[in-house]
Amino acid sequence: MKTIIEPFRIKVVEPIRPTTREERERYLAEAGHNPFRIRAEHVLIDLLTDSGTGAMSTRQWAGIMEGDESYAGARSFFRFEASVRSVFGHRHVIPAHQGRAAERLLCGAVVQPGDVIPGNTHFDTTRANIEAAGAVALDLPVPEARDPDLILPFKGNIDLDALEAALRAHAGHVPFVLLTVTNNSGGGQPVSLANLRAAREMCDRHGVPLLLDAARFAENAWFIREREPGQEGRAPLDIARDMFACSQGALMSMKKDAFGNIGGLLSLDDDDWAQRVRTALILTEGFVTYGGLAGRDLEALAVGLEEILDPEYLRYRIRSTAYVGERLQAAGVPLLKPFGGHAVYLDGRRFCDHLPDILYPGWSLSLALYVHAGIRACEIGNVMFGRQDPDGTWHWPPLDLVRLAIPRRVYTQSHMDYVVEALVELFAERCSIRGVRFVHRPPVLPHFTAVFEPVQG
Ligand SMILES: Cc1ncc(COP(=O)(O)O)c(C=O)c1O
Repeated sequence: MKTIIEPFRIKVVEPIRPTTREERERYLAEAGHNPFRIRAEHVLIDLLTDSGTGAMSTRQWAGIMEGDESYAGARSFFRFEASVRSVFGHRHVIPAHQGRAAERLLCGAVVQPGDVIPGNTHFDTTRANIEAAGAVALDLPVPEARDPDLILPFKGNIDLDALEAALRAHAGHVPFVLLTVTNNSGGGQPVSLANLRAAREMCDRHGVPLLLDAARFAENAWFIREREPGQEGRAPLDIARDMFACSQGALMSMKKDAFGNIGGLLSLDDDDWAQRVRTALILTEGFVTYGGLAGRDLEALAVGLEEILDPEYLRYRIRSTAYVGERLQAAGVPLLKPFGGHAVYLDGRRFCDHLPDILYPGWSLSLALYVHAGIRACEIGNVMFGRQDPDGTWHWPPLDLVRLAIPRRVYTQSHMDYVVEALVELFAERCSIRGVRFVHRPPVLPHFTAVFEPVQG
């Protein structure tokens, strides 16, 4: 059969309720024209993030009942540890309540002011945690990643020449290199095994550990299977193990490729780093065998890590995301290509080519999409990454994207058909989309809480 179906059936449903356009205009104004501030019950289809929004399986729910809530040494921790170690392979498995807690613990333990952390493209919270430790988060994506039309298999790769130059220029001040798989801020693009291996070899020469931000490691593994010569048809688990074998450690938000509604981890080889992280963890997160999670969460994550590597699931996951991309592309909607694993990214600047950068085309598009059809998306562009010099000059990121992140095992094909229809309609009337300006811009991670007003005219 050619049709790829959802490899599950639905056992529990959660109703969603349509709203009127007038209601949505009011909700948006009340939310300060910021999608993060809209109440979720006022959203029809929520593509804000794929983080923590997935549906758990029957096995995960059964695991929840099995959760051991002992303060120290809970059975659930050992189940979690075994599940993580069988994929990641590092010596120390340290749970955290989500990805950014792992980032903060690691940065607090091993990053010094003045350090530089090179990566393919740091995620926003990763960047913020690196900067909060007084260091510089240096994005070194391959140059091709900047061209949204270029179709290449591994646009998530790190630029190896630029990495070599950075390791030389900042010798002694690079505590680790961090590769994000898949590269979320760079459009959900994968990193090849060849790039990971070359980066590891280079890091070894410079005596610098290579770490992975593994939030979407399984989707990355599937892309390697589909796209990298010599990897065709391999088991995703084996590819994932090869990916982690290139690293001396990993951070992970387990709200993505572990089917968790909450959870994160640090997986480390270095005994001293692990010791320092655990000391910090006890101060703010909890005990070392639960890291701010409940025992039942650890159970659900342990099962989720096994389920995510099912080839049938990954085939459906990557194919159903591409389906959305292909339909939008056929209608001429400007997109980042090739399509990501967890999301389709709209090119905000080209969609709203009547709006200059300072009127935030991508953000404005996300607002218009909500008003038009009750769909919530997430800008990954000018609002998130725009920077202003003290002299007032703005610096904009290479791409002003709007991410349609697809929660795992949540929406069906007809939900996605509705999203496509809405976007095609909106594209036809794109000149009516108004820009926005900041009313309040928080200094750190502005997108989460900023307030905007529409620009008239
Ligand atoms: C690549 C990547 N790293 C880190 C994080 C942060 O994880 P969390 O939201 O669990 O704190 C995210 C979240 O979206 C992410 O996509």
